[in-house]
Amino acid sequence: PGDPLVDTFGRVHRDLRISLTDRCSLRCTYCMPEQGNEWLARTSILTLDEIVQIATIAAANGITTFRLTGGEPLLRTDIVEVVRRLGEIRGPDARPVEIAMTTNGIGLPEKLPGLIDAGLNRLNISLDTIRPERFHELTRRDRLDDVLAGIEAAAASALRPLKINAVAMRDVNDDELVQLVEFAVAHNAQMRFIEQMPLDAGHTWDRTRMVTREEILETLASRWTLTPIPGRGGAPAERWTLDDTDHTVGVIASVTAPFCGDCDRLRLTADGQLRNCLFSETEYDLLPILRATDRESSQSREVAVDRMLRACVRGKLPGHAINDPSFLQPARGMNA
Ligand code: GTP
Ligand code: 5AD
Ligand code: SF4
Repeated sequence: PGDPLVDTFGRVHRDLRISLTDRCSLRCTYCMPEQGNEWLARTSILTLDEIVQIATIAAANGITTFRLTGGEPLLRTDIVEVVRRLGEIRGPDARPVEIAMTTNGIGLPEKLPGLIDAGLNRLNISLDTIRPERFHELTRRDRLDDVLAGIEAAAASALRPLKINAVAMRDVNDDELVQLVEFAVAHNAQMRFIEQMPLDAGHTWDRTRMVTREEILETLASRWTLTPIPGRGGAPAERWTLDDTDHTVGVIASVTAPFCGDCDRLRLTADGQLRNCLFSETEYDLLPILRATDRESSQSREVAVDRMLRACVRGKLPGHAINDPSFLQPARGMNA
């Protein structure tokens, strides 16, 4: 315990992405079917105390960032408490942790003041289109105004950098990339375009229809002079400045230019499974450890979670296999 989480390829793990629920207020076509997925059993969802127990041990082992995701993290009724309790965790040498959240923005105007007060440091908001009809078709919900209100609230707050994520999709929003960047710039936010990954429950991903990094850059270069920003570290996004301004745009090319070699992340699913990759099939089950009732002292529980974390890191492969002919999509979809 206390040693950094280094895998067999020398990658040091500093980022734990915590899924708080698999449910969502939207039904983005690249993520979920219209009727939603088969939801995780309520009884298997980690409680606030269980999340804090795991996160505390992760921080003791060098995790410095907790990213809250889902599904939609704002659907957790105890979301403010989750942020507060995680924010109180200290790493070795009393180092504070960073709390970030990836959200669809719905409900943010009401919740943001409480979240900031609780210690939220950073927000990434998903927005694939600013056209109402298109938004409705893509997310199967008529809620663009709610998302835009969420982005306004975030833009008016002090949280920076504020990032806006769009999955680039052929014949869906690939004619809107420039407008999305202009929207982000107007909100003092960083626009990021994402290559679609094979992670939807319907298994509808089609490589030949994916909008690639190269195409995204070509479109943007028709409007701005892009200058690459060096020093990406373990971040999934490559970034460029726009003309001679401080505004930047990012591209996350998980398929055509994977960042696996620098990956520093681990994942915790809402039902207590540790994972070392979005695309791995192996899960490291923490529920039996956390919920053991036989006189296990809290100390031996800590040791067992620590061991599981290390096993998860040890089992990490060098990278995903999306580009292998034999690739099989993992059973667990993006929302879970
Ligand atoms: P920052 O710390 O702000 O850079 O956050 P992030 O980009 O890691 O997180 P976000 O939740 O905003 O995710 C943006 C896109 O990156 C999504 O499409 C994610 O699926 C993708 N992404 C995040 N982590 C991973 C990862 O470990 N592997 C792959 N392949 N994609 C990832
Ligand atoms: N491929 C790439 N990105 C995805 N996201 C959801 N599903 C996919 C996918 N199949 C994005 C969301 C959100 C972030 C958490 O991941 O749009 O911004
Ligand atoms: Fe919800 Fe995010 Fe999936 Fe869209 S991509 S349905 S916002 S979890």
